[in-house]
Amino acid sequence: MGRKELEGKVALITGGAGGIGSCTSKLFCEQGAKVVIADVQDEKGHSICNDIGTTHASFVHCDVTNEIHVQTAIDNAVAKHGKLDIMFNNAGIMDSRRSSILQNDIAEFENVVRVNLIGAFLGTKHAARVMQPAQRGSIVNTASVSSVLGGLTTHAYASSKHGLLGLTRNTAVELGKFGIRVNCVSPYVVPTAMPRKLFNLEDDDPLDNLYSNLSGVALKPEDVAQAVLYLASDESKYVSGHNLMVDGGYTIVNEGLTIF
Ligand SMILES: NC(=O)c1ccc[n+]([C@@H]2O[C@H](COP(=O)([O-])OP(=O)(O)OC[C@H]3O[C@@H](n4cnc5c(N)ncnc54)[C@H](O)[C@@H]3O)[C@@H](O)[C@H]2O)c1
Repeated sequence: MGRKELEGKVALITGGAGGIGSCTSKLFCEQGAKVVIADVQDEKGHSICNDIGTTHASFVHCDVTNEIHVQTAIDNAVAKHGKLDIMFNNAGIMDSRRSSILQNDIAEFENVVRVNLIGAFLGTKHAARVMQPAQRGSIVNTASVSSVLGGLTTHAYASSKHGLLGLTRNTAVELGKFGIRVNCVSPYVVPTAMPRKLFNLEDDDPLDNLYSNLSGVALKPEDVAQAVLYLASDESKYVSGHNLMVDGGYTIVNEGLTIF
């Protein structure tokens, strides 16, 4: 059997009851980590931990917009496992699709920014608090292709993910002196609950007829999990402040003007 990439590591994964988060939780545990899943969906979170095995995975109810929840989740992970090596700020939401900014309301916009950006800010803050004394740690944020491109998603979502890239870069600079790396992963459309809701599709819609720059491969949560594993593990020990696109080349081409 091959070497396990995360043997002896402890990770906290927000949004761990969802598509990308649960898949990453499974992969991290297969790779030897102890994982704490933090989410607002208690039933789903517990059921994923039971599937994975409760010696490796545990659940904590945590609303990432609530600082006390985030602080407590991180303190509990440290109390249970003695340390925190990896913080995966992955919880996210999307608001409803509207054709005009005139139809956007402030409460909806604030809600998206609160979960996607402030949630990651709180996760980074409290992870840094426990990682600094250890002089090491890896923080990974789930951004999106919407961290660098406009027009693909809602105003609130694109703003939150552009902001998350800014947070990733700024904290990578500050936390470097403590040996803490901060990176983000930016997927194109992954078939999970989120895009299905955006496009008004059934729960099991495979989302397989969307444009892709890469033929013959469909992006899956597992592919994002592998990218997160790289950023979380010591394999990427000199990589910090990076925005790792998992998009089959989508963000580097202008489909409207190419010679191919
Ligand atoms: N699916 C995609 O196409 C896609 C593409 C790019 C980026 N992303 C990002 O990936 C991340 C994971 O999304 P997903 O696709 O797995 O969607 P998902 O809806 O399956 O999972 C999101 C999870 O976040 C949790 N969550 C929501 N609000 C929360 C809160 N306040 N506190 C704690 N947990 C909360 C949900 O309960 C859910 O389990 C998100 O940040 C999303 O923006 C998704």
